[in-house]
Amino acid sequence: MKISVIGSGRLGSTTAFEIINRELANEIVLVDIIQNLPQGEAMDLNQMASEKGKSIYVVGSNDYKDIEGSSVVVVTAGVARKPGMTRMDLLKTNAPIVRDVTKEIVRYAKDSIIIVVSNPMDVMTYVALKTSKFERNRVIGMGGQLDSARYREILSQMLGVSRSSVRALVIGEHGETMFPIPRFSYAGYSRVSDLLSQEKLKEAEERTRKIAAEVIALKGATVFAPISCITTLIESIVKDKKDLLPVSAYLNGEYGLKDLCLGVPAIIGRNGIEKIIELDLNEEERARFNNSAAAVRKAIDELLTLKVIE
Ligand code: NAI
Repeated sequence: MKISVIGSGRLGSTTAFEIINRELANEIVLVDIIQNLPQGEAMDLNQMASEKGKSIYVVGSNDYKDIEGSSVVVVTAGVARKPGMTRMDLLKTNAPIVRDVTKEIVRYAKDSIIIVVSNPMDVMTYVALKTSKFERNRVIGMGGQLDSARYREILSQMLGVSRSSVRALVIGEHGETMFPIPRFSYAGYSRVSDLLSQEKLKEAEERTRKIAAEVIALKGATVFAPISCITTLIESIVKDKKDLLPVSAYLNGEYGLKDLCLGVPAIIGRNGIEKIIELDLNEEERARFNNSAAAVRKAIDELLTLKVIE
């Protein structure tokens, strides 16, 4: 199993670290535009693998040819937000980067599954899908898992129950309009919407939306939580686990929406997104979800107008 990671910065290098720890590949290729960076990361990671006695080999490269034959390609290339920025502020910078990276993936790894991480992630997933012309199950955006992990953490604290007892779900955009959905989040066997007051639910939602910005303000970037989610996604693909995970998927009529990528629960296996789960949203929830779709649609339209994508 060969897995490639495009962008060897904070997320790229630590994704490779976690793939090694979970033993999900025989070969990992790290690519970056910066000369020497992926090569240096690869040396460091190989020495770690050696210490652990693991037969996983990391290659660092500035040449896309080295990703040839990859089963999974993770895209972390681009710019990350700085304190005070929203993910959408990265739109015009990262869209051409993700488009060009995708062209290289098509050239050298045309049978791969692409996991898009670069922000604004839902829009970048759409850029990768449209550029690659891959079937929609083979282009997956990672973001909802992370938002859901954060929501779970907050709910666990509020309810005074362990993290593992809470199943939390965030759907919609991985961005300002994300939708933590208490009626489909559970503590044990009870819906969170039945356990917390409206005021507390609102507080949990607000915290979930803002918590990444808090981390960025404190330490400059979010790293460990996202790379754990990326690797869980990879694990479900390479082990064909059929995990039910919130991912950004191309919608073609599901939830009454078409032609955009947005966070929804899906079954993830060897073929990538194997099934999109349609939750039975009530009227108010549907309005919230549609609002999130509108934000992503607006950004896609902007890229179409600018002719970044066709
Ligand atoms: P970083 O700045 O540490 O790394 C990005 C790397 O991409 C750099 O090494 C840069 O040289 C490289 N790069 C830029 N253009 C490239 C190109 N054309 N080809 C190959 N490599 C290129 O950033 P970090 O912290 O690793 O974040 C990466 C992206 O992931 C950002 O857009 C960030 O906003 C996003 N992100 C997404 C999350 C999610 O849940 N979806 C969570 C956290 C970050």
